Amino acid sequence: MVERIQLIVASAEDVVLARLRGREFARALGFAPPDAILITTAIAELARNILSYAYDGTLGLRRVEDRHRGDGCVGLAIRAQDKGPGIADVERALLGGYSTSGRLGVGLSGVCRIMDEVTVKSGAGRGTIVTATKWLGAQASR
Ligand SMILES: Nc1ncnc2c1ncn2[C@@H]1O[C@H](COP(=O)(O)OP(=O)(O)OP(=O)(O)O)[C@@H](O)[C@H]1O
Ligand SMILES: [Mg+2]
Repeated sequence: MVERIQLIVASAEDVVLARLRGREFARALGFAPPDAILITTAIAELARNILSYAYDGTLGLRRVEDRHRGDGCVGLAIRAQDKGPGIADVERALLGGYSTSGRLGVGLSGVCRIMDEVTVKSGAGRGTIVTATKWLGAQASR
């Protein structure tokens, strides 16, 4: 079983590939089709942000386990990393409705709604690392 996937994001084709690989990986971990599609959406939003604001970066998908949540609690963790300009006001960007590119500004807030845990490490001139994890329900993983 594949435990981790590492992808480069530098073109629109890479975003398409990230969606495909992400959906396959989520299904392989046991996520039902609707959840796999949601995870795919989060992956696509993070990949699109890399392309739009940093031009290139990497996307890591990883199987994770949480011992505190009981035996066999499995999740999928996304790590989107770039060395672009960074986000000056992370809190505002996470709230939604904030965009420096004249768009809707719903990408990051959407990722927060879809995923169970989201962490953004960023700052002007420092690049950006977004980690986002979704857990499989304990019952579904049995
Ligand atoms: N990887 C990144 N590097 C630098 N800035 C970013 C990055 N990701 C997001 N941002 C900043 O955070 C803002 C909000 O991001 P978000 O994805 O929510 O909205 P958007 O990309 O502007 O629009 P949408 O995703 O709705 O098309 C962006 O406008 C941009 O200023
Ligand atoms: Mg966006």
